[in-house]
Amino acid sequence: MTNEFTQPQKDEIAQSLKPFLAETFQLYVATLNVHWNVTGPLFQPVHALTEEQYLELAPAIDEIAERIRSLGHKAPATMQQYMDTGSVADGDENASAEAMVKALQAGHEQLANRIRPLIAQAADASDDVTAGLLTDRLTVHEKAQWMLGAMLG
Ligand SMILES: [Fe+2]
Repeated sequence: MTNEFTQPQKDEIAQSLKPFLAETFQLYVATLNVHWNVTGPLFQPVHALTEEQYLELAPAIDEIAERIRSLGHKAPATMQQYMDTGSVADGDENASAEAMVKALQAGHEQLANRIRPLIAQAADASDDVTAGLLTDRLTVHEKAQWMLGAMLG
């Protein structure tokens, strides 16, 4: 049947979503690092913006993990797996506010760059659900890059 979403297609997409889940989790932790440890004149706006961002990222992590489950795979949920498969850098709690903002911006850019080819992969399999989820995530990461960049003038 031509409209079937086959298990091999699901496997391919699930495998691609696993490092994306890892990196979204890593960016969540890096965002908390900035929220908690930022100092200096930018404290208030950075503290507030990163709160909005980590509150947005938390349910997104759950949504990505549950999509992996819907595709028939176990969702990676150990720090070890996240470190092994993700490459978003840890935050530096002693960095300047400007460096912290730039590092977060780079993390959002890294996520956006990971997502773009995954949307095409999902579309090729007519997996509109994953493509939609990924498009929503791309929107968030592109917007975050703008907002963090605007903070630096
Ligand atoms: Fe807080």
